[in-house]
Amino acid sequence: MKVEALPVVQGDFNLSNYADVAKDFDWEQAWKSLSASETGRLNAAYETIDRHAESSNKNKVALFYKDANRKETYTFYDMKRMSNKAANVFQKHTSIEKGDRLFIFLPRSPELYFALLGALKMGAIVGPLFEAFMEGAVFDRLADSEAKVIVTTPELLERVPVDKLPHLETIVLIGEEIEEKDTIIDFKKEMKEASPYFELEWLEKEDGLILHYTSGSTGKPKGVLHVQQAIMQHYQTAKWVLDLKENDIYWCTADPGWVTGTSYGIFGPWLAGTSMVVLGGRFSPDTWYETIEEYGVTVWYSAPTAFRMLMGAGDGLLKKYDVSTLRHVLSVGEPLNPEVIKWGANVFRQRIHDTWWMTETGAQMICNFGCLPIKPGSMGKPIPGVKAAIVDDNGEELPAYQMGNLALEKGWPSMMHMIWNNPEKYDSYFLKDKWYVSGDSAYMDEDGFFWFQGRIDDVIMTSGERVGPFEVESKLLEHPAIVEAGVIGKPDPVRGEIIKAFVALREDVEPSDELIADIQQFVKKGLAAHAAPREIEFKDKLPKTRSGKIMRRVLKAWELNLPAGDLSTMED
Ligand code: PRX
Repeated sequence: MKVEALPVVQGDFNLSNYADVAKDFDWEQAWKSLSASETGRLNAAYETIDRHAESSNKNKVALFYKDANRKETYTFYDMKRMSNKAANVFQKHTSIEKGDRLFIFLPRSPELYFALLGALKMGAIVGPLFEAFMEGAVFDRLADSEAKVIVTTPELLERVPVDKLPHLETIVLIGEEIEEKDTIIDFKKEMKEASPYFELEWLEKEDGLILHYTSGSTGKPKGVLHVQQAIMQHYQTAKWVLDLKENDIYWCTADPGWVTGTSYGIFGPWLAGTSMVVLGGRFSPDTWYETIEEYGVTVWYSAPTAFRMLMGAGDGLLKKYDVSTLRHVLSVGEPLNPEVIKWGANVFRQRIHDTWWMTETGAQMICNFGCLPIKPGSMGKPIPGVKAAIVDDNGEELPAYQMGNLALEKGWPSMMHMIWNNPEKYDSYFLKDKWYVSGDSAYMDEDGFFWFQGRIDDVIMTSGERVGPFEVESKLLEHPAIVEAGVIGKPDPVRGEIIKAFVALREDVEPSDELIADIQQFVKKGLAAHAAPREIEFKDKLPKTRSGKIMRRVLKAWELNLPAGDLSTMED
């Protein structure tokens, strides 16, 4: 299929910058800039924090933290000491050793960062959990990873089914007046008493770092393991793509429960020695603009849904704030619509730079660099050192303008190293032992820019969050009124997609608005608020294959009034 390219936005860019870095490119170069080059051993937390705490950057602010109740500032030196203290707390009170899994289930707060870095200093593999997860989602992740320790709050602990998790040994609680027991540790109290000195564990490049669970179209969420060497790419892209410089104030709006919030909300910026803003609490247009003004944010990394919500809040609101410090704005997670780029150009006088990557890729892969022209609607070009291509289902490369599987030549530094407990799933990502196949469809134009077309599988991207239809369907089937459920992503002008469920009810149950609300609440409570269907439609029967599998493709066609395609496998 040939698609007309949109006109190029002419901006103030310098293509020679891009050519220069590409010419000298070598991942080992990024490695050498990190201290690990001397010994071959490293620790991501050391490279991220301690290296700066031992340099002239010592008293530079690493973290500006703010929420409705707190406003705090920590230098690199402070971060080193606080993460050392956290490591000492874990060492004293848990049996964590190198490679063991420690999970963090916390709202954004300075303690989240102390705990995460402290666990990394011990050589633990950290599993960050988004605070909105409910019991079912928390259970799946802790059980699959056989986590030994969870760091959480007394409120969130109610969603951790401790009795059903035989591997979970210790619960570290962050709150007031915690009653300590053998298995329950009061983090704040122990932090006060802990030493700020810690001998960290030196690791190999291939030792574990972070375990992020992510959704596919079938089965439970999968544990994507990243290893220490991923920081090479975090560091290099923080320089090339985020364009972080000495005096920048950087703000990434993602939560560390998602990959953007670790790769670019911890590692990238701090490896580059940049001051970073973290805003706790929920999204509000006022607070967001105020944050940019208050800290003088210069580099801002967010997502299309957030930009569209800000757009919806009106330009009048923006006029109340001074956001003139912004010099580089980036987006990730969903297609960045040309309207949003136009809005950014008008209200911020900034180009919004799209970046494409996934949990599995660990770091940015295809991007609009500051020095490239922007073609609105395109994700940009692969970063130097990465080869991307459009391939057919046999792994053969397709020519320009032909739609196919967006694939990446395997072997980039931040590539996932395993799917936890599931080697078959890991292998299924690769074609011809050469291509990592993303699950996205796209095409490439004659200038080598990539254009996103959609997901090939049924994965839903809602407000930039990746939701597997299978997980939602499984939860719906646990509702006493439901006998069949099929879930799809329905296009939505603000959220990209919303979750729509088609359900068939038990014969003796009547459809009603109360039932819809009850089902929504059921999924919200059991899984997560963002996974609850915003729309529910009742059907007598759902389209199924002869083997009984719900045909989501047909549901989608119903929803969008499109032809349903090949129905030969459908039951009568
Ligand atoms: O479909 C693509 C979409 O998000 C998916 C990956 O989701 P996740 O693993 O949660 O990681 C999101 C943040 C790194 C991709 O398969 N996606 C990500 N970035 C873009 C995108 N879709 C269009 N444009 C993007 N820039």
